[in-house]
Amino acid sequence: MAETVVNPNLEGQEPTRRDFIHIAAGAAAVGGAAMFAWPLIDQMNPAADTLALASIEFDLTKVTEGQQVTIKWRGKPVFVRYRTPAEIEAARKTPLSDLKDPQKDEDRVKPGHEQFLILVGTCTHLGCVPTFGAGEYGGWFCPCHGSVYDTSGRIRKGPAPKNLAVPDYAYLTDTRVKIG
Ligand code: FES
Repeated sequence: MAETVVNPNLEGQEPTRRDFIHIAAGAAAVGGAAMFAWPLIDQMNPAADTLALASIEFDLTKVTEGQQVTIKWRGKPVFVRYRTPAEIEAARKTPLSDLKDPQKDEDRVKPGHEQFLILVGTCTHLGCVPTFGAGEYGGWFCPCHGSVYDTSGRIRKGPAPKNLAVPDYAYLTDTRVKIG
């Protein structure tokens, strides 16, 4: 597994402990990293000013197809997933009638950027951080009580009532987004 620490707002400068991004390559490896890396970051007690940041910018060139990057925003993990064509197809061919919280995949991404799925990475049951690459729907699995999300982050099975939330974000350029 390759893991990289990147600071999105201070490029070229020494990363600080409060602005870490973890990039993990490989679906299974990403899951393992997410499970263990997040509690570590969370214990770093970031400064109040960091938690209060209303928005952050992220350079999408830092993530490649099949990868997921986790960014910290307003004290929460945010997943930036560069989906494969197969993941997008799986999400789009799912009938809305199969969904507990029906929402089209098209409504969870920006037009022309359907490969990038940006989600608040907390389970809508009780807030654990789901792991990518586990669960039978090709998306995320929450190990706390067994909720399973699909490749659009939509809840498919388990006690979680809602889809993983899509935060407010906008494209500043084709490769840069502002979250929040
Ligand atoms: Fe995720 Fe309970 S917190 S299933």
